Amino acid sequence: MTDQKKTIRVWDTKEQLGEALAASLLEAAAGAISARGRFVVALSGGSVLQMLGAGLAGRELSGHKTGLWRVCFADERLVAADDEQRNDRQAREALFSVLPVREEQVLSPQAGAGASRSAHEYERSLRELFGRQLDPRGLPRFDLILLGMGEDGHTASLFPGHRLLQMTGSWVLGLEDAPKPPPARVSLSLPVINAARKVVFGVAGSQKAPTVARALTQEATSACPASLVRPRPGELNWHLDRTAAGRLEPAQHPVQESDSPGKA
Ligand code: 6PG
Repeated sequence: MTDQKKTIRVWDTKEQLGEALAASLLEAAAGAISARGRFVVALSGGSVLQMLGAGLAGRELSGHKTGLWRVCFADERLVAADDEQRNDRQAREALFSVLPVREEQVLSPQAGAGASRSAHEYERSLRELFGRQLDPRGLPRFDLILLGMGEDGHTASLFPGHRLLQMTGSWVLGLEDAPKPPPARVSLSLPVINAARKVVFGVAGSQKAPTVARALTQEATSACPASLVRPRPGELNWHLDRTAAGRLEPAQHPVQESDSPGKA
């Protein structure tokens, strides 16, 4: 395959993994800003956000032109705006406390009138954001989508075997029956995730090791949605801590990292 670059990196600790996620975010931002004058990123919730926030905390961020960033979400949990389960609230606490972005740079799905409506409205804002800058298939190309993965293999709010995985007509999809609470969510669709210029997974913990091995070494299957993430043309980077990589053979993750990622 010539149009996709995939790397798997294994870090000794979660802290190093967080620093690697931070380095990856800042590098993608610098590249996008120099190529296109802005950086459009979609974040996910859960531990990946916490690790990224911790990784950014020690960095000098003033030279990173964060005023040119637009921060979106790969998925959102449709609960009240101030509910601590919301990904945008977690981002405010874990990330925007260290990363200088203003409220008007952040685009997140809102709860209120049901998941389909919320998905529709979020898609409308994304269409405004991307304007005519779409790929030949009419899809937006996020500069970076940051994803986590659940023990069951879900990513964003695309769950194993769920009908959303077959839906290709919309950029954003709503669901009311997520198996992981809360049940009402919106998610970027798989085609939109796979249209990104770069997708980065951050996964830690031994409980996820079997699913990591499944996603990375077996056939892509809707039983493990993370395995279906293959941006093309685009770049796919998996960052794992040693415990999450525990079921991979050394030959399956040739890049072993024992030093901290360089700080820009
Ligand atoms: C969500 C997330 C989801 C998350 C995974 C992994 O809103 O639920 O976006 O896709 O990234 O569930 O979460 P953990 O890393 O916390 O296990």
